[in-house]
Amino acid sequence: MSVALPDAAAAEVRQAAAQAQPNIALIKYWGKRDIALNLPVVGSLSITLDSLWTRTSVRFDVALDQDEFRLNGRRDDAQLRRVAKCLDLLRARAGTQVRARVESHNNFPTGAGLASSASGFAALIVAGNAALDLDLSLAEQSILARRCSGSAARSIFGGFVEWTCGACEDGSDSFATPMLDASAWPLRVVVAITSKKEKAIGSTEGMNRTAETSPYQRAWVDGQEADLAIARAAVQARDFEKLADISEHSCLKMHALALAAQPGLLYWNAATMDCMHRVRALRASGLPVFFTIDAGPQVKAVCEPQAAAAVAAAMRDVPGVLDVVETGLGGAARLIEINELAAA
Ligand code: PMV
Repeated sequence: MSVALPDAAAAEVRQAAAQAQPNIALIKYWGKRDIALNLPVVGSLSITLDSLWTRTSVRFDVALDQDEFRLNGRRDDAQLRRVAKCLDLLRARAGTQVRARVESHNNFPTGAGLASSASGFAALIVAGNAALDLDLSLAEQSILARRCSGSAARSIFGGFVEWTCGACEDGSDSFATPMLDASAWPLRVVVAITSKKEKAIGSTEGMNRTAETSPYQRAWVDGQEADLAIARAAVQARDFEKLADISEHSCLKMHALALAAQPGLLYWNAATMDCMHRVRALRASGLPVFFTIDAGPQVKAVCEPQAAAAVAAAMRDVPGVLDVVETGLGGAARLIEINELAAA
């Protein structure tokens, strides 16, 4: 079958590569107001990391008769549908049908609560935008990333980032914007990895179950604007204590909401709990540190730079902690050379 190609996609092969880092929400996103468009019921606020990354190349090639996806050097047909859906969004913008080969490398465990879908889809949108010469604004790239994985909207940007809930039915006002550069408040994040298994219940299924069955859903939505306002003010003032209090509150509230779904969503294991207690004890002893946890068992301890070594040592000491990864806050998603793809 021959395909009609517009000028922008007329070349036989068009390729580009990009890198994006995961982000960790301090004020959590949980719940969708539109499942198809991936529109959230609440706004959220996050930090983008620096030393964990996804590097992705995309190659649109008229010789391909279907999309292909490789993750860390291996064909990954399980994720291909999501990747193809993302490629469809890019193709629709370019007015082309050309299939693509996507190759991604993560330097951290995939699907284990470390936000690999956020960095993965942000990298794919940035690479696809360049390969197809779409010239999309950052807000448009954030919207497209959002359509693939909500939290990916935030990984387009670096540092402290807010993703607005928006009100438009078509989602045109629900995208992320950068609030503060990483260098303006260089916090550190110590990630305690307590399991390397892929999580049993993904975030979309978890969110939908929560919205349908949790008795706390309304309270969650109603409280979010106030939490966001406190967090924004804390970030602007670099007020660690204030950010710590509101972030732990948002995390625990999200998990309380999910725990109260039917059947209840239990993302933590025993080591997750021990890490939380350990972080609380460190903070009580005067160290500037707080925890946050997403839809998985890993604990992210956010701290001021001078506390990072002590926090990492304390996390390593918790029974059941398999690995500890320390990272700073990082920059926005960006284009890279194709040959940088798998370089360490
Ligand atoms: O966008 P998703 O499907 O990766 O969902 C993210 C959900 C949380 O990580 C738990 C919260 C958040 O705001 O990132």
